[in-house]
Amino acid sequence: MSAAKVMSGSLIDPTEILRPEPIHAGKPIALFRDFTIDVNDPIKERVRLHYDSMHKHQTVEFVLEQHERWLKFDKLQATIMEALETLSTMLDQSDPDVDFPNMLHAFQTAERIRQDHPDCEWFQLTGLLHDMGKILALYGEPQWAVTGDTFPVGCAWAESIVYRDSTFLENPDTHDPKYNTKYGIYSPHCGLDNVLMAWGHDEYMYRVLKHNDSKLPEVAHKIIRFHSFYPWHSAGDYMHLCNEDDMEVLTWVLEFNKYDLYTKCDRVPDLDEVMPYYQSLIDKYIPGVLNW
Ligand SMILES: [Fe+2]
Ligand SMILES: [Fe+2]
Repeated sequence: MSAAKVMSGSLIDPTEILRPEPIHAGKPIALFRDFTIDVNDPIKERVRLHYDSMHKHQTVEFVLEQHERWLKFDKLQATIMEALETLSTMLDQSDPDVDFPNMLHAFQTAERIRQDHPDCEWFQLTGLLHDMGKILALYGEPQWAVTGDTFPVGCAWAESIVYRDSTFLENPDTHDPKYNTKYGIYSPHCGLDNVLMAWGHDEYMYRVLKHNDSKLPEVAHKIIRFHSFYPWHSAGDYMHLCNEDDMEVLTWVLEFNKYDLYTKCDRVPDLDEVMPYYQSLIDKYIPGVLNW
């Protein structure tokens, strides 16, 4: 990090794709994303408290404030590798399946994609980059404004949002008739590009890539933007806001999700060995110093 300068429903059955095999890396598939409540289990309790705060505070007003604050890209100047290194200390508090730094998760995800898609460089690089927006947490943002499953603000909370019934009661938008109907501030099939998502690492990294003229294909940007949108990609909610383009993106988001989720028990790659390969992909698609 030395050179970094801090400045001031019908398409797909998701359950088929999400459960390609009953066991992964010694961990039963059913034990990934286990959001049951157990106050005596420290990890489960950490995750529940994370969503408690997230669902209380993510409002239309808050999201717009975060756009104002972060989309000036005046916080940091760093290359992708420099920014990735900062994540070597970052632990995702919302994740029931990971208790090691996020940088390793980035390389695990990329390497598993590389195994299955050896010729798809852009998809491999998407794996490496997808969680980099979590650097928000290193710049003073609480984790509830960085990590966790995302959902639209400005319309009713979908049934499939984790802990939905107990966590939104204190969110002012829950009681605001402008925002608490099926469509809220949106129109039918307006497209997810026109929807305000809960603020976090997905939206931020999408915006960082666009702002810095990433040469990745647009679908890569969309995978990053919506990879935590589980109520949509894995539960099939919010389809009434989607257009045809979104449904195409969905097939890629689901393909990506296998690697994001089920690599969390895999062995950690030898970073010295794989680093030159990923540097070459960065040089091709998103080179040089970026504004964050
Ligand atoms: Fe993520
Ligand atoms: Fe991830």
